[in-house]
Amino acid sequence: MNDPRTLHADKIIDGKAFAEGLRERIGTAVGKLKDEHGLMPGLSVVLVGDDPASQVYVRNKGKAAEAAGITATDHRLDETTSQAELLALIDQLNNDPAVHGILVQLPVPDQIDPNAVIDAIAPAKDVDGFHVINTGRLATGQMTGPDAAMVPCTPLGCRMLLEDRLGDLSGLDAVVLGRSNIVGKPMATLLTQASCTVTVAHSRTRDLADVCRRADILVAAVGRPQMVAGDWIKPGAAVIDVGINRIAAPTEDDPDKMRLVGDVDFDSAIEVAGAITPVPGGVGPMTIACLLANTVTAACHQNGIEPPAF
Ligand code: GUN
Repeated sequence: MNDPRTLHADKIIDGKAFAEGLRERIGTAVGKLKDEHGLMPGLSVVLVGDDPASQVYVRNKGKAAEAAGITATDHRLDETTSQAELLALIDQLNNDPAVHGILVQLPVPDQIDPNAVIDAIAPAKDVDGFHVINTGRLATGQMTGPDAAMVPCTPLGCRMLLEDRLGDLSGLDAVVLGRSNIVGKPMATLLTQASCTVTVAHSRTRDLADVCRRADILVAAVGRPQMVAGDWIKPGAAVIDVGINRIAAPTEDDPDKMRLVGDVDFDSAIEVAGAITPVPGGVGPMTIACLLANTVTAACHQNGIEPPAF
């Protein structure tokens, strides 16, 4: 009865529902591309080794692509695959006109240098937005036209959720907690482009709670379960929780039970925040939807077609 999710339902940013709508719009756009241009967007997902979590992610990406009408091809390579073998596959995909997006699931086994892999993917097909050409285009604001940056999926999804909830973000104080290449850095760049005043905070930041309390927008992407407590949050702030952490949640019936939590302590945070993404059901579903959006955008650019706005 006192469940904060029920009491404060209007504060919850429902990423699952937003992602479903986005995937529908993508499906419609794919249908139009087929009808009007004979173009079938194609995504190739490469997985090296048999990490169970990666297998689930890759399967979900493939299923979501097919559901949106995107042709998905899976490449499962053995754990012992050499870097040269993986680069040969990437070269083949780079040169395949039916493949518009290439994603190599990370992490890769130790014998393979992830940077060599990312560098080998043609920037136009780099739907993760990890290639230095794309990070450079993002950093310099090259966001339109056939040579626009491919933007990493997770921060792209976070910005969509923020703009949907808050509208114009200009002038807002944003704190990005975490400085990874995949989330923190591109997130800070996107928020700067949206005319926020951006602080990138991290494990070495002094008075971290005070810094976070200044934020109108707080994006937590540090990978530390429930680190951000309610008293780190400015009343009314929008909180985007990128963390996906599995923690022990033993019950009498199941002493080994685990549950998913974010980097934010949801129950205390929702009391203070004006809007907040839950885990699961917040940012996670947006990442896959944005991967599909990037694939459609890439397919259009590779065929001289103006991409749809999602
Ligand atoms: N592993 C965890 N997240 C990601 C992602 O967004 N892209 C890729 N390629 N691998 C990942």
